[in-house]
Amino acid sequence: MSYTPSPDRYANSVGYNYCGKSGLQLPRLSMGLWHNFGDVNDLTEARKMLETAFDNGITHFDLANNYGTPFGSAEANFGKILKEDFARYRDEMIISTKAGHTMWDGPYGDWGSRKYLIASLNQSLKRMGLDYVDIFYSHRYDPHTPLEETMGALSDMVRQGKALYVGISKYPTDKARQAYRILADNGTPCLINQDRYNILTRDIEQTVLPLAKEKGIGFIAFSPLAQGLLSNKYLKGIPENSRAAQSYGFLQKDQITPQLVNKLIKLNEFAKKRGQSLAQMALAWCLHDSQVNSVIIGTSSVNQLKDNLGALKNTHFTDEEMWLVGEIAG
Ligand SMILES: NC(=O)c1ccc[n+]([C@@H]2O[C@H](COP(=O)([O-])OP(=O)(O)OC[C@H]3O[C@@H](n4cnc5c(N)ncnc54)[C@H](OP(=O)(O)O)[C@@H]3O)[C@@H](O)[C@H]2O)c1
Repeated sequence: MSYTPSPDRYANSVGYNYCGKSGLQLPRLSMGLWHNFGDVNDLTEARKMLETAFDNGITHFDLANNYGTPFGSAEANFGKILKEDFARYRDEMIISTKAGHTMWDGPYGDWGSRKYLIASLNQSLKRMGLDYVDIFYSHRYDPHTPLEETMGALSDMVRQGKALYVGISKYPTDKARQAYRILADNGTPCLINQDRYNILTRDIEQTVLPLAKEKGIGFIAFSPLAQGLLSNKYLKGIPENSRAAQSYGFLQKDQITPQLVNKLIKLNEFAKKRGQSLAQMALAWCLHDSQVNSVIIGTSSVNQLKDNLGALKNTHFTDEEMWLVGEIAG
């Protein structure tokens, strides 16, 4: 059956923030396709998640060349759904992709050379059936390639019309500073920095965020629930249908220690007092700082997505609440 988006998608939307000092607005919640959209996943649910997201004004979809199991399958599946459901709405969407981690064998399928990045973007466009992506990221800093080469490749993508904006992800702060300067000198300023940010991982508050503020660069947070730890999922063990129970992926069972679960139980109690689920509170917490322009959620079901949308009802934290969260998360 063909999909017709909700006519109220902007009237009742998630709300939008300008990305740094740019003219591009991003939805407060963006949708990430790292897990749950590959060939090993339930693609009927994946489609429903994309439709539900769009119906609620989530206009930004975040991908990378290696997302999905196997690599590339998230982009291919997204491309198929895009063609079938969203073809008429392409101009209402911000689609991002990245390259920088291992994608194919040999010396040209990894890191940050011009050879890899440009070949990878061409492949991503083909998989998704797109003429251009809205944002292309260098997915990680490459210590063996001159930054001028990596950033030069990004600038050329913009000049060729294959990417409208460019960004960086997980760069050490001194390298981010250099990258911002090179991209500005090239006339293709860096739009955005994407990094991990959640109640349990806050180091960017001292590094990435102050620099982005100084330079007027946007910031988007990934893994806001620490891959699902900051939800009610692991409060009583490791459920079968959880990311930690899968043989693939980066969340390992041994990360879920009794000390961590103890913290999660306390955070859950705190969330309940605010009238929120733990996931809602953790997402709202990421948005407490207006410098966080958007938070990328990754959900495995429509129900999780709907729960997460509820986070936006209350993103305000008093100083005392902020202190308490810090104390518990330690
Ligand atoms: N730039 C980078 O290097 C980088 C790295 C990582 C991620 N990212 C981006 O950020 C996106 C989000 O990262 P992430 O997937 O790690 O995000 P996350 O929100 O920290 O974790 C998502 C997982 O949390 C669980 N979850 C979500 N909502 C829930 C709810 N309401 N109740 C219970 N459990 C819930 C689900 O786990 P189950 O699957 O167990 O149900 C879901 O798969 C990615 O898709 C990707 O686009 C970028």
